[in-house]
Amino acid sequence: MIKPRIVIIYHSGYGHTKVVAQAIQRGAEENTATEVRLFSVEEVDWDVLLDADCIVFGSPTYMGSVSAPFKEFMDKSGKIWLKQQWKDKLAAGFTNAGSLSGDKLNVLIQLALFAAQHGMNWITLGIVPSNHNDEGNGEAASVLRLNRMGSYLGAMAQSGNDSPEVTPPTDDIRTAELFGKRIADATYRWVAGAPGI
Ligand SMILES: Cc1cc2nc3c(=O)[nH]c(=O)nc-3n(C[C@H](O)[C@H](O)[C@H](O)COP(=O)(O)O)c2cc1C
Repeated sequence: MIKPRIVIIYHSGYGHTKVVAQAIQRGAEENTATEVRLFSVEEVDWDVLLDADCIVFGSPTYMGSVSAPFKEFMDKSGKIWLKQQWKDKLAAGFTNAGSLSGDKLNVLIQLALFAAQHGMNWITLGIVPSNHNDEGNGEAASVLRLNRMGSYLGAMAQSGNDSPEVTPPTDDIRTAELFGKRIADATYRWVAGAPGI
């Protein structure tokens, strides 16, 4: 059987969202029964997206919205929408912004609506916010503040003004890795009907 294929497509103006995209890739690669590829919107390969079983969309939050280059990618997908060629694929989304809120939710809503217009099936984050999981998630309760922004629709990260080597923090990177693993497991189940590895 061909391995279920996951493609992560993102924009990152200054490198911070790229770090989150790479963390999702690392997490997804933990399920070795799937194949994971990562592209920026500048290097998008539409044929690879057409062959994917799951597409993960990622954009920084710029002015409370997806960034202009990511919106350009969205608009260019109109031809695919016309034929509903992404219908019944899985989809997921993530964003990264400077502020703790910073209106990141608006970007996740934009990405989920975009996936819905394409007839895709949306994967949620599935990690209880760290302020609510004293009992539910040992990793979060002890050292890390997983899902510290309390997101449900997708993964959120928050970056300061420092370089992408130091921000976003480990909490958000680990959250993104776990999201990646969830995405890969879901994709494997979607294609092969079993949880995979
Ligand atoms: C044009 C522009 C608009 C921005 N708008 C927001 C915003 O609405 N909310 C926010 O919290 N941060 C905002 N920021 C900060 C970025 O989201 C933050 O620096 C992020 O880490 C950038 O990601 P990148 O390095 O992948 O481009 C904005 C930055 C730029 C350049």
